[in-house]
Amino acid sequence: MLVCAAGPLMASQMSKIERGRYLVEEVAKCGECHTPKGPDGQLDRSRWLKGAVLDFQPIEPVPGWHKTSPDLTRQGRLWMKWGEKALLNYLMTGLTPSGKPADPPMPAYKLRADDAEAILEYLKSLK
Ligand code: HEC
Repeated sequence: MLVCAAGPLMASQMSKIERGRYLVEEVAKCGECHTPKGPDGQLDRSRWLKGAVLDFQPIEPVPGWHKTSPDLTRQGRLWMKWGEKALLNYLMTGLTPSGKPADPPMPAYKLRADDAEAILEYLKSLK
């Protein structure tokens, strides 16, 4: 149980961010593609979800394969271009504002609204 001195509303907001962190870091592993790796091969926490050049590629060519992933933090262009509603819709349907899925290897997630919202709250909490 999360205890927050600022009261129950803050506490529920906190647990939403924590749930988003859990989904991003432990379940969907967004960082594996959206965080650059350092020289030691580990994800670079100082550039967490800031977008990366992928360090893997398919053996056979895959049409539309995207070698880079965008910055997912609120400071990134994606938030500016899409806005929160489109991002939420994307995580729930797997469809971008153009009505199409993103390019591979981005998975087309079809999350529940509360999970998608938690992920966005977590992304907003990142610097
Ligand atoms: C297997 C690698 C991989 C994983 C895991 C991954 N992504 Fe991506 N993601 C990509 C790539 C590559 C792109 C660029 C695709 C494109 O521009 O069409 C991308 C694009 C995106 C976009 C923008 C889509 C667009 O069309 O511009 C969003 C939003 C996104 N990812 C969010 C997430 C979130 C949130 C997670 C975890 C829940 C996640 N990604 C996990 C590789 C990944």
